[in-house]
Amino acid sequence: MTEAELETLRVPPSLSAKVEGSFAYLTIRDRLPTILTKAVDSIHRNKDKFFEQYGEEGIRAEKAAIGLLSKLRNELQTDKPVLPLVDELVDADGWNRYLQRHEELQGEQDPVSWFRSPWLYVECYMYRRIQEALWLNPPISGFDAFQEAKTQSYFESQRAVMALCTHLEGLRKTVAGLPEDQLLEHFDRLLQVSLWGNKCDLSISAGQDNSQKTSPIDSLAELRPFILVDDTRSVWSALVSARDRGGPGRVDIILDNAGFELTTDLVLADFLVASGLARTVRFHGKSMPWFVSDVTAQDFTWTIRQTVASNHRFMSESGVQWQSYVREGVWTYHDHPFWTQPHPFCDMAADAPDLYAGLQGAALVLFKGDLNYRKLTGDREWAPTAAFGAALRGFAPAPLCSLRTLKANVQVGLQPGQAEQLSQRQPDWMTCGQYAVVQFHSPPRRGP
Ligand code: F6P
Ligand code: MG
Repeated sequence: MTEAELETLRVPPSLSAKVEGSFAYLTIRDRLPTILTKAVDSIHRNKDKFFEQYGEEGIRAEKAAIGLLSKLRNELQTDKPVLPLVDELVDADGWNRYLQRHEELQGEQDPVSWFRSPWLYVECYMYRRIQEALWLNPPISGFDAFQEAKTQSYFESQRAVMALCTHLEGLRKTVAGLPEDQLLEHFDRLLQVSLWGNKCDLSISAGQDNSQKTSPIDSLAELRPFILVDDTRSVWSALVSARDRGGPGRVDIILDNAGFELTTDLVLADFLVASGLARTVRFHGKSMPWFVSDVTAQDFTWTIRQTVASNHRFMSESGVQWQSYVREGVWTYHDHPFWTQPHPFCDMAADAPDLYAGLQGAALVLFKGDLNYRKLTGDREWAPTAAFGAALRGFAPAPLCSLRTLKANVQVGLQPGQAEQLSQRQPDWMTCGQYAVVQFHSPPRRGP
């Protein structure tokens, strides 16, 4: 057995803020309190609106929700134990069982707390507690404290969206008769657009503007050297072999951020259907506001409606096309509580068997973004040369691909020496958001 194979058999520890100065530590110490402060500000800014809609009851709810969020920020900053959830939302029991599991693992001497427990767990938990603070305070339970930031980032990327929709419009007209090699070129290009769309999340920038200002298509050649692993050919083959076996299959896109990134995903999905590489596309979003900019059902429908309403002809035509895909059931939107739980995806088959079974019907599953990558790999201290398939630890519902710009210090599947070279060139290569991967894995074939 090679050293790389041996390496991947060992399951390394979870990333954690225990390690002072680590990216996890800095995220919990600096970025999360800033995000909480911005959520509080957003609720407070809407005070008058709550009053107009709900009268005194709205004001009381605003104060109480802010009180709970301030308490949460204090718990985080003083490294208090993680508390069970007290709302009665459908996933509350699951979260509380997960906490128990961690308490048993860590033992009485070592309480489950913000700076002592797995980073992935506590970071997810913060967003779930924001949800709890609002949920416990009707009539503002359904308020999305990140809505304004998402809307602003959508409008700030308008020029880039126009360029993209213009490109798509031209492509839609010619795609039907294109020879296979040209189809592959277009696929490659739009997959990269969707990949780099992931630069624009609002969690890494703690809610600051991070939108795409220039035409994404024009930047692709310049960005190519920053793709550290590029399995585009395997992704293409998965689609083409499904198409050639029994007709175009279903593609599932596990969405990440609203704003420009979502538009890049819709453009890719449009191309997949128009080119006959996919018959249907299922989009998976979050059932609550998550990691600041992640897509919810409301963001999904709002984005399509806004695109239809645009004054820009090609944008509007794209929006109309997307609306009709939704109306005809060619595109469907789904959310499942599992996407807003802290579990790594290797737990999905046991903890959300219905979701796992659903994904098994796909010809390809695309996982967008950094958080999905952290969950695919379990957010562990893997050696950068560990195999992607090994880091998935059995998670293989269908051929899958991660499209991710690096914003956390977990990375697998690199060549020996590659990480060392990168560290010399740019010490923060894992977290600066300038590098990306297109990483593919296919389940082992069954039977003879
Ligand atoms: O807060 C940091 C983080 O968890 C990073 O891992 C990542 O930068 C970001 O949040 C989420 O990124 P994405 O939107 O790509 O999942
Ligand atoms: Mg995100």
